[in-house]
Amino acid sequence: MANSLKPMHSSRISGFYKQTVAERQASLAQFLGQSIDNVRQLGDGAGFGIEIADVLVENAVGVFGLPLGIACNFRVNGRDRLVPMVIEESSVIAAASNAARLLRNEEQGIVAEASAPVMIGQLQVMDIPDIERGSQRILADKERLIELANRTRPTLLARGGGARDLVVRVLHSKDHGSMIVVHLHVDVCDAMGANIINTMMEALAPEVEELSSGRVYLKILSNLTDLRTVRVRGAVPVARLSRPEMDGVEVAQRIERASVFAEVDPYRAATHNKGIMNGIDAVLLATGQDFRAVEAGAHAYAARSGQYSSLSRWRYRDGALHGEMELPLAVGIVGGITRVHPIVQRLMEWMGIREAAELAEMTAAVGLAQNLAAILALSTEGIQRGHMSLHARNIAIQAGASTAHVDEVAERMRRDNRVSEGYAREIVAEIETREIAFRRAASL
Ligand code: MEV
Repeated sequence: MANSLKPMHSSRISGFYKQTVAERQASLAQFLGQSIDNVRQLGDGAGFGIEIADVLVENAVGVFGLPLGIACNFRVNGRDRLVPMVIEESSVIAAASNAARLLRNEEQGIVAEASAPVMIGQLQVMDIPDIERGSQRILADKERLIELANRTRPTLLARGGGARDLVVRVLHSKDHGSMIVVHLHVDVCDAMGANIINTMMEALAPEVEELSSGRVYLKILSNLTDLRTVRVRGAVPVARLSRPEMDGVEVAQRIERASVFAEVDPYRAATHNKGIMNGIDAVLLATGQDFRAVEAGAHAYAARSGQYSSLSRWRYRDGALHGEMELPLAVGIVGGITRVHPIVQRLMEWMGIREAAELAEMTAAVGLAQNLAAILALSTEGIQRGHMSLHARNIAIQAGASTAHVDEVAERMRRDNRVSEGYAREIVAEIETREIAFRRAASL
């Protein structure tokens, strides 16, 4: 590789946020062992033009940009990672990096474990003369149906995946009576699996109609992928949580209380889980995943007990704050746009993600860290101070500050504790007056 730098293996980069964009690109190149030129191309959209947009969606008229940042300090399952995140909200990437630093240790760091990649397909069968008999006949022919599904995807079978099981559920609707719902469980290997599942379900429909003497209506995957989950856990020694105004144990106990609040209250759980998904969605976007599918699955899973609750749980014990979370995470490293979108392709290659499970584990680890960052801030100084200080740059831009003056305007707003567009406009006007005066003086 021309001009490649010698790779650096620690993701612990202090002061990354203070570096200039060029310096950050150089740090990233160094970590990855890539040439700086390669990494720099990320800054210009890396060749994602209207031609590709036109292939991906209908009625394309343009390409829409979002910031791509790097979260530092992550160690997941013993491997250091710089994690790409695509998100428009300020402070998310900095918060993830901060929490990753707290959750870091010399051993595994954040521990994440993905289950087998088993997805669920559904067939909705109605208008069945005898539900009991219909169910029995479908179940009796289960092996043949599984084989039939597998015949649609010989390559999946060759890779060690394929349909594994078939389950029959009987559900009741007050105004439409009973229906059979057939679930097919399929190991989709490294794919997200939507296409595989949908093809299989369509192939099974005529057979299931015949066996049940009913009619198949919907044939589609379920986004509640509760057979394809990731468990993730991490711990922070209390000493790392201490701050001048509050001892570490007190911070840990407050975080535990924040967790309990989300565990018992759906109103709080929705916001708590949104914080988790801030991190998860940002990684999913950067890696070209169907983030809507993961969102749907995560929230449905959060309500699996019948009451919507928090996905994560934090407890203080034995001198440390322990966090854990389990959620469904259907991601793929083949198919979708992973091999089409030039930036996604590049990021995936650079991160050296070898399996979908590895991507799922890294993503869940970011979700847990993001959650910790949010409830740590909420349990101590609140989020507005940090948030507004990062937000100040956005406001400066909105108020018309030129690139050369964004930092000055943001800094003044922070210093004066007045982060608002109105004040930003006043500062911009002041700077403009100062510059005019300066130019006049220079021309005399
Ligand atoms: C903001 O995007 C996310 C938070 O509201 C999450 C939370 O409240 O836990 C800060």
